[in-house]
Amino acid sequence: MSRIAYVNGQYVPHSQGSVHIEDRGYQFADGVYEVFAVHGGKLIGEQGHLDRLTHSLGELQIKWPMGKRSLMVVVRQVVQRNHVKNGLVYLQITRGVARRDHPFPAECQSALVITARKMPPLDKAALSKGVGVITIPDIRWQRKDIKSIALLPNCLGKQQARSVGAYEAWMYNEKDEITEGTSANAWIVTKSGELVTRQVGQSILNGITRLAVIEAARASGLAFSERAFSRQEAAEAKEAFVTSSTSHVKAVTRIDGKPVGNGHVGELTANLLDLYVDFIESKGGPVVTNRWN
Ligand code: PDD
Repeated sequence: MSRIAYVNGQYVPHSQGSVHIEDRGYQFADGVYEVFAVHGGKLIGEQGHLDRLTHSLGELQIKWPMGKRSLMVVVRQVVQRNHVKNGLVYLQITRGVARRDHPFPAECQSALVITARKMPPLDKAALSKGVGVITIPDIRWQRKDIKSIALLPNCLGKQQARSVGAYEAWMYNEKDEITEGTSANAWIVTKSGELVTRQVGQSILNGITRLAVIEAARASGLAFSERAFSRQEAAEAKEAFVTSSTSHVKAVTRIDGKPVGNGHVGELTANLLDLYVDFIESKGGPVVTNRWN
């Protein structure tokens, strides 16, 4: 069955979806995006994604292409028309089409593209296999809280990871602190057993999965800290994992080629994966979704 995309007001066959050559997203990466997970036919973290999109658009002064409610109707339509039970939705809004010039155009209709893709259902066994990450300098701009489509540093980092057989690259800043992965948030359980992920601010993207894991941990009385952690702490960690709408809660068992803890998936990581799945299945996503920087 052929895939359907939504492109600027029309549902079109995916293979025929196209945008204008002077779209500012194409020329300047002047746009933002969201990736929603679809799990068991339901969109996960809908409110969180909408709130984060509101933040991203607001910070860049990009107009909404349509009202939020209508936007979610279209998102659901795209999910349905592509028969996605498990997978993801990609939503991109750019400032729109204008003659190439750096300042914002006076009149511009924001451009909207939405696609959906099937993926294998969330598989706890696969997520618990354990993957490797490498650490690389964080060379991105200073507004990582905005989910900008300008992802070249992220692509370079991910490619570097893949070229050495690692799943993800964790980026570190000038203070040698791990900020996050190229497309996921980074978590460790320190050698003293503290569950840690970096605090939100302009140095990371506040993940919807991150928020869901925080809420799930809190609800079950698990202690955790939102604070900076160093490369050294990561190297000495007992456990590690990444969170994102596409990786869910994925165990990390090697950092820079060295085993994390005993090299096996940690107990707390496995527990958090269970808690996360129960949480999204019962609550649909995080409830507190207003902390973006
Ligand atoms: N990326 N940090 C970065 C830099 C990301 O790109 C992402 C998500 C996350 C996790 O956010 P969430 O839990 O809301 O998915 C953190 C998406 C999946 C992507 O670019 O494909």
